[in-house]
Amino acid sequence: MSEKTWRIGVAGLGTVGGGLLEFLAEQADFAPVGDRAVITAVSARSRSRARKTDISTLAWFDDPVALAASAEIDVFVELIGGSDGPAKAAVEAALKAGKPVVTANKALIAEHGAELAALAESVGVPLLFEAAVMGGTPAVKMLREAMVGDEVTALAGILNGTCNFILSEMEAKGRGFRDVLTDAQALGYAEADPTMDVGGFDAAHKISILAALAFGCAPNYAAAEVEGIEGVEALDIALAKDLGYRIRLIASTEKTDDGVAVRVHPSLVAFGHPLAETRGATNALFIEGRRIGRIFIQGPGAGAGPTAAAVAADIADVMTAASRPVFQAPAGKLKPFVAVAPTRRVGKAYLRLMVKDQAGVIAAVSETLAECGVSIDSFLQKPVEDAAGVPIVLTTHAVAESVLTDAIDRLERLEVVLERPRLLRIARI
Ligand SMILES: NC(=O)c1ccc[n+]([C@@H]2O[C@H](COP(=O)([O-])OP(=O)(O)OC[C@H]3O[C@@H](n4cnc5c(N)ncnc54)[C@H](OP(=O)(O)O)[C@@H]3O)[C@@H](O)[C@H]2O)c1
Repeated sequence: MSEKTWRIGVAGLGTVGGGLLEFLAEQADFAPVGDRAVITAVSARSRSRARKTDISTLAWFDDPVALAASAEIDVFVELIGGSDGPAKAAVEAALKAGKPVVTANKALIAEHGAELAALAESVGVPLLFEAAVMGGTPAVKMLREAMVGDEVTALAGILNGTCNFILSEMEAKGRGFRDVLTDAQALGYAEADPTMDVGGFDAAHKISILAALAFGCAPNYAAAEVEGIEGVEALDIALAKDLGYRIRLIASTEKTDDGVAVRVHPSLVAFGHPLAETRGATNALFIEGRRIGRIFIQGPGAGAGPTAAAVAADIADVMTAASRPVFQAPAGKLKPFVAVAPTRRVGKAYLRLMVKDQAGVIAAVSETLAECGVSIDSFLQKPVEDAAGVPIVLTTHAVAESVLTDAIDRLERLEVVLERPRLLRIARI
């Protein structure tokens, strides 16, 4: 059988695109099925910008859409980023021209995955996005391929390395969020505009994609409940530690009789739990299946090397002509995404109250919680120097979110409570 050379067009030569160029330059014999993959054409914003790999011999396209539709390539790799704009236009152009597409773009897949899947399947070409979630750790393949024999019931994980780095540093050094964020930016762990990461939106894109793969529905990013880590205080990290927990940004999804819930919240995870022990920029994911039980994967979620390896694995799938639907089922057969209302969540919670230093406070708080039907699991009062008021912190047994919100409203109105109580969820998995 004669060897074929697949001509790869790459749009976006930044961290991931640059990594892919380096990977294929170092490993010129990358031929997973005998055929070779060779980058022949590229596009980026600036042609003159210095790149780690020589691109002078490659065809250059100012416009990624023109590259995507070009007859000079067999596979289009989109590594620009962004849910709309040039990335979306180029992916659509490639699919319309009948070209397989590989992308690392979680925002694009989370927000437009269903329509792009329909387009890809209508022309019979793959649309692959392994690098979009957990970088080099193969979560997408795990759900799309390895788990199809089981019924996934829940997922929970750490999907944003920047947030995990910041929370780990806050805990290790006892420092505040803003200080640690500044350091993380200087070290290259956080972007100049960190909103997508610290606001929880990046993790929400990723868990929306995983929910679709796990439950056979279309991704529905708009239905995700998203809370970032900006409001996590060093005081909560210290108090949670005293109770035997670490705070992590947990992205989770579960299928219940009411529908699918997709959530991102800073959450308490007990010491010793693999998610609590996942530190620094590492990513981790629990997959819960009805027959298989629990699977845990952990690894790098970003960076040029790991992400380029995931993109290369997708290119290899294109070359093997592996054909699976883009999500768990063909686009036309994906189940409607029925979102569970946030108020229907039932789970354990952590509440931190700043109260006046006077007698009767604990009785007032306990009575209010009892009246609302919130049952206390543990209670801790700890004097903290320089704090406005005295913090008391408690964890609850499982309680409906609507009941908890009502209790927080009532606690806030107590004369002895100085500010709105701080709520953090306790991770279920
Ligand atoms: N960084 C990671 O570790 C990582 C991990 C997983 C997934 N991802 C995803 O991978 C994608 C790329 O991320 P990245 O970190 O590599 O981004 P990046 O470093 O910011 O690189 C973006 C690239 O896109 C090019 N670009 C921007 N606008 C363009 C346009 N209109 N036309 C053509 N090219 C354009 C830029 O050109 P210039 O170089 O000329 O400015 C640059 O080369 C994103 O979807 C991201 O979410 C990244």
